[in-house]
Amino acid sequence: MKDAGEKGYDEMMKGLYDMAAEATVNAYAPFSGFCVGAALLAGSGKVYTGVNVENSSYGATICAERTAFVKAISEGEREFAAIAIAAKTGAGEIAESLPCGICRQFMFEFSPDIYVITGTDREALDVRKLSQLLPLGFALEHPTGGRQGGTL
Ligand code: THU
Repeated sequence: MKDAGEKGYDEMMKGLYDMAAEATVNAYAPFSGFCVGAALLAGSGKVYTGVNVENSSYGATICAERTAFVKAISEGEREFAAIAIAAKTGAGEIAESLPCGICRQFMFEFSPDIYVITGTDREALDVRKLSQLLPLGFALEHPTGGRQGGTL
């Protein structure tokens, strides 16, 4: 968890991408060799990183984006501004990684307007709103009347 600080928009996007790239070293990807890192800027200004965590039961794998979201949500965050995603292949090459469909829906729950930063070159990043990547995401009403957390 790091603080993004008061940087300009462009520098903030690059900084987030750098954090995502740094996080790839912690990916647990013994099966695909495809190491993904994510860096999620939350409403508090804190950045939560995440990596993909694979499993011998392949379907139990979690992507880097969802790891970052779960870390942040479990720390009480509910608002999100941007997420950067970086990836490296098993051969150590930098690779493009767009969020998978499950991650798009997962993020949509919390943040349809979040900026998604991808690319292979910090000087030429792609920045899209999640609503561009998932135009018609699924959302239910909150039967609890908007209360998201538990009560003590
Ligand atoms: N992966 C992610 O971490 N994020 C994505 O959005 C796409 C895929 C991971 C899952 C798996 O560990 C590896 O990349 C290859 O699919």
